[in-house]
Amino acid sequence: MRENRMNTHISRIALVMLPAVVLLMFMLGWGMGLFTNIDEETDTNEASDSIVVGVSQLGSESGWRTANTESVQRAFTRQNGYFMIFSNARQKQENQIKAIRNFISQRVDYIVLAPVVESGWDTVLQEAKDAGIPVIIMDRSVKVEDESLYVTCVGTNSVEEGQKAGRWLEEHLIRQKKADEDINIVVLKGTEGASAQIGRTAGFSMIAGEHDNWHILEQEYADFTIYKGKEVMARFLNKYENIDVVVSQNDDMTFGAIEAIRESGRTVGVGGDITIISFDAVHDALEMVAEGTINVDIECNPEQGEYISEVIRMLENGEEVEKRYYVEEDIFTMENVTQEVLDTRIY
Ligand code: AHR
Repeated sequence: MRENRMNTHISRIALVMLPAVVLLMFMLGWGMGLFTNIDEETDTNEASDSIVVGVSQLGSESGWRTANTESVQRAFTRQNGYFMIFSNARQKQENQIKAIRNFISQRVDYIVLAPVVESGWDTVLQEAKDAGIPVIIMDRSVKVEDESLYVTCVGTNSVEEGQKAGRWLEEHLIRQKKADEDINIVVLKGTEGASAQIGRTAGFSMIAGEHDNWHILEQEYADFTIYKGKEVMARFLNKYENIDVVVSQNDDMTFGAIEAIRESGRTVGVGGDITIISFDAVHDALEMVAEGTINVDIECNPEQGEYISEVIRMLENGEEVEKRYYVEEDIFTMENVTQEVLDTRIY
């Protein structure tokens, strides 16, 4: 009898504890990486009528990246005839290579790759080609010996974005009647080896090279993140007293940089001590453009999912596709960030 009661008692405790134990095991598993990319394990047989697309996203470092992921998720839905297997590489090329190999072994129909860095893809893309799986490069670009290793690249023109920033600064200085003054510039660069960083750096440097009075004091990688943007900017501010312009290669680094500048007692933006040039044009940054905190934001359009879906439709119909497609991009200043622009910007 006593033993029975004890058993019942233990069963009750077990019942109460069960959800907590399951939750704990799940959290431990998550911490160890056991449940990351859970969707990669999905049985693609389920998707026999759909086009199966394996998407290797490089990470989730910025608001822009989240918007890019959401754009892909909106495009590759079941209703649109797709079955998507999504993998977040958390900024590591090795994770992307692993994901691609996974997609190959699952015999997906297409691979979409947003590459964290430009180089180092030849071997794994050759493996995809040998398996007969077309690879579409999204957002950034890759540098490979043999360009037939990928079908097409849908993304942004980062060299042009850098040039736009330089041309805007030229005009701004003319308007400010400072075209002949010495201008001290610091550059917060994105991820080392990433084509978006390499292109923007090259594009801006081309224009800067045309002006003997523009002095690039220093350029440093800040990984496209708020945290790094703030850290690197704080170091610049300690080292240089007379910074006139910050070129920050994405909005997240800009948010961090602005915090650091304000904490140093200096002012930013229109009429401020330091001119801010940013890239991306996400909603929160456009609000800062509208209020004059950021002088200019060079748009980098993350809405690439639909373009890629269109390319896949063309490939499915046996149509020829171009080697590169650029998405449309604008330049935003106080003058053209209207309420309508803010209301319609979903990221
Ligand atoms: O490759 C595009 C860049 O990557 C965006 O500017 C940035 O926000 C992202 O992390």
